[in-house]
Amino acid sequence: MSYLEIRNLQKKYTKNGPMIVNNMNLSIEKGEFIVFLGPSGCGKTTTIRMISGLEEVTGGDICIEGESILAKKPKERGVSMIFQSYAIWPHMTVFDNIAYPLKLQNVPREEIRRRVETAAAATDIQGLLKRYPAQMSGGQRQRVAVSRAIVVEPKLFLMDEPLSNLDAKLRVSMRTELKNIHNKLGATSIFVTHDQAEAMSLADRIVVMYKGNIEQIGTPMEVYQDSATRFVAEFIGTPPTNFFMTSIERTEEGVQAVGDGFCYQVPVGLTDTLLPYAGRKIEMGVRPEYIEISPGLDRTEGYLTDVDIRFVEPQGSHSILIAKVGATEIKIHTTKYMDIAAGSRVSLNVKEGRVMFFDCDTGKRVK
Ligand SMILES: Nc1ncnc2c1ncn2[C@@H]1O[C@H](COP(=O)(O)OP(=O)(O)OP(=O)(O)O)[C@@H](O)[C@H]1O
Ligand SMILES: [Mg+2]
Repeated sequence: MSYLEIRNLQKKYTKNGPMIVNNMNLSIEKGEFIVFLGPSGCGKTTTIRMISGLEEVTGGDICIEGESILAKKPKERGVSMIFQSYAIWPHMTVFDNIAYPLKLQNVPREEIRRRVETAAAATDIQGLLKRYPAQMSGGQRQRVAVSRAIVVEPKLFLMDEPLSNLDAKLRVSMRTELKNIHNKLGATSIFVTHDQAEAMSLADRIVVMYKGNIEQIGTPMEVYQDSATRFVAEFIGTPPTNFFMTSIERTEEGVQAVGDGFCYQVPVGLTDTLLPYAGRKIEMGVRPEYIEISPGLDRTEGYLTDVDIRFVEPQGSHSILIAKVGATEIKIHTTKYMDIAAGSRVSLNVKEGRVMFFDCDTGKRVK
């Protein structure tokens, strides 16, 4: 039994409306840091609002430690939520903002003082307890929201895009702090974001969502290296995966994936899986860093084609190269900085074992 079990969870806002969360199944272990990642409107907020009790479920069940929480009121669930907008009260001091949920629970005054001080120390705002929100920066207000969420010592910590109002630099330092607080409290956390880089750097496991469905659940490395669907391969990683439409052909030299402007010899290990697709279209995906360029026009077993580099975007530590294979624009992420000029002719070779194939109808990974 996992700590949090979500079983066949469904949500419709109106009787005849669309299914917003579609039969979601997910098990979360105690102490895990889970990130819900997906584009706007995919159902992330709806899902965590159902867990917190702010939204009713249409079907399915949510259990904590084996016990359904659906009949419990939000404050009985042992769950704390941080909202995107912080939702801290402008007319209350920092102390009163953090103390608020404890006052609601009629916790004795002396204990409130002690717990507020501990929560404020955890986010490093112990010196600001007498201030009002208007007298603080966005990052400091964010910390107040975090302190208020942890002061109730939640079993489960839900965070809905808590960093989206912060500037890029503060976002990065606050996310490290949130992870720190999570570790310190030994809490179980669900963190919502549509920022894939944020998800990758924070999560023990990422739940990739799209249109109310879970596309994949996995560690950051799993969803990146071993994407289960075309959507995941495209959504995770910058620049995103390059996709090529190909048809699988059986030739004298073996099985080939033939596309506009290239012909890729399918490695022997993949031929059995791909042969059923012979004569049909299939989509091939290669991440930008797994395409190697050879200015000397050397070809390896993963040879794709020769191209002219159209643009070079130096990034300091490496370069992003842009080229066209047939009509498809592709991006290549060099592993180190390469002094290569636009207009150079190069060979493209795909690193061994780094090609993904996706079924065109279902978007699911074939191999
Ligand atoms: N109260 C509501 N009534 C009707 N439809 C709603 C309601 N709340 C959300 N929706 C719809 O449900 C879908 C999912 O919304 P949700 O807020 O869960 O998305 P999200 O993944 O959190 O998106 P974002 O990244 O933009 O916050 C959207 O299509 C949205 O319009
Ligand atoms: Mg949302």
